[in-house]
Amino acid sequence: MSVEPYSALAAGYDRVMEHVDYDAWAAYVHMLLRRYADAPTRVVELGGGTGSLALRLQPMGDYDYVLTDGSDAMIARAREKVAATDVPIRCHTADFTTVTREGLPLDGPADAVVLVYDGLNYLLESSAVATLFGRVHDLLRPGGVAVIDQSTPANSENREEDFADEAAVDGFAYVRENQYDPETRRHETTFDLLVDGQSVTERHVQRAYTLAEVQALLDDSSLTVEAAYEGVTTVPAHADSPRIHWVLCRPFD
Ligand SMILES: C[S@@+](CC[C@H](N)C(=O)[O-])C[C@H]1O[C@@H](n2cnc3c(N)ncnc32)[C@H](O)[C@@H]1O
Repeated sequence: MSVEPYSALAAGYDRVMEHVDYDAWAAYVHMLLRRYADAPTRVVELGGGTGSLALRLQPMGDYDYVLTDGSDAMIARAREKVAATDVPIRCHTADFTTVTREGLPLDGPADAVVLVYDGLNYLLESSAVATLFGRVHDLLRPGGVAVIDQSTPANSENREEDFADEAAVDGFAYVRENQYDPETRRHETTFDLLVDGQSVTERHVQRAYTLAEVQALLDDSSLTVEAAYEGVTTVPAHADSPRIHWVLCRPFD
């Protein structure tokens, strides 16, 4: 059986992402929000998955935090994780190309918007990335800041050794295979999953955007670029950076 991306993977997503240092990533995003936003309080995370970043980031700034993701299954998993803690995070299903402030449980515009770990790359057309930037602009207050990452062709080209892996644990097993086409810059990941005895296949397709492509889309957007950093650093990004964190601002009118 073939299913929507993340609908079955949600059950074992945290196992698949065990290698990711969410503590360091949350500390990095918190530092960027402190540096670029004026006393940020209200944070909206887009494409936040099962809430691994949110559960670490919210307490760092005592943020008023709304976690969103386009997948009901990922948000259901996030809700379970949040409910098992005393971290105050409101979880909501929302597609980040259509999300509106009014559609979220918010008392006002966001001081900050966060979207990390490849959410942008799931948008296969440049026009959809432009739409995302418009949505981010509308969620933010004037002077509000967004931290958005992207992976680049360098990331897909240089990770041959990661291109197949598998694991099995507690009723969940996966085999992952990656394929990258440098011509189209489409990166396909196929997950063959066993979830509670049921076999399912999920196909995830991403597009590896270059720094220049995203920069051009931002130049045409209503957001300003405060910084573009390589990986989880404050070193300026360049054309061969595998991952880029953009720090964006909604300008004052
Ligand atoms: C690689 S996961 C990253 C999740 C989370 N940010 C993390 O670091 O663990 C990408 C996430 O983007 C979400 N996503 C992809 N396209 C989306 C869209 N158009 N709107 C909202 N979420 C989307 C997926 O459901 C998935 O949870």
